[in-house]
Amino acid sequence: FGIPLNSLEDFLKKFSDMNVVGLHVHIGSQITEVSPFVEALSKVVEASDKYGFKVINIGGGWGINYEGKELNLEEFKEKVVPLLAGRRIIFEIGRYIIGPAGILLLRVVRVKKGNKNFIVTDGGMNTLIRPSLYSAYHNIKILGKNEDVKKFDVVGPLCESGDILGIDRYLPEPEEGDLLIVENAGAYGFSMSNNYNSTLKPAEVLVDGDRTYLIRKREGLDDLFRNVIFPCLE
Ligand SMILES: Cc1ncc(COP(=O)(O)O)c(C=O)c1O
Repeated sequence: FGIPLNSLEDFLKKFSDMNVVGLHVHIGSQITEVSPFVEALSKVVEASDKYGFKVINIGGGWGINYEGKELNLEEFKEKVVPLLAGRRIIFEIGRYIIGPAGILLLRVVRVKKGNKNFIVTDGGMNTLIRPSLYSAYHNIKILGKNEDVKKFDVVGPLCESGDILGIDRYLPEPEEGDLLIVENAGAYGFSMSNNYNSTLKPAEVLVDGDRTYLIRKREGLDDLFRNVIFPCLE
């Protein structure tokens, strides 16, 4: 992805017929320290000034609070904003805006106890793939229960060893039918969901104060077959 900053001059010579108006930088994801942004953007601002670019796209990467640490916005404002003052800036901070705004609501379908305890829910790596794909941590709660915690693995219903939502979580013991909340699921949640094992994607509900709006219907079987073509029936 991208080009190293020290190749910029060669790049601009090679593509001199292009009207390059700005630079775009994305230094990584889930960054909770301000210093990497200062370091990268100082270099980008310097290059922008050198070549007279009008726009800087500072990408994403603003770390949200999955595990107790997040980007300190006050420090960002103090150290990064002065660097960028007077320039046209584009951000790509979708995760930062929408990630903490969304929760995944699942139903407990089974509680299995033994040497290891499991909570099985009605959605797993088909509805939220981040824990399974990147060992990402999402905080999990049982709705309406806070006490008498035990250690559980929280898993989905897909009969896959990787169908995991959380390992070694200390949670109150739920009953079948209880609701379980997976936090920070607003970004890379629905957009990475899938129909593996012919599972159906869940509905999405927007909550605005005490009002709720259905903004995406729960999938039905018709949705699974919508684009399938059966040559024998043509
Ligand atoms: C160019 C670019 N912008 C923005 C993002 C989003 O970053 P994040 O969601 O990690 O903040 C990415 C993610 O890889 C990216 O490659």
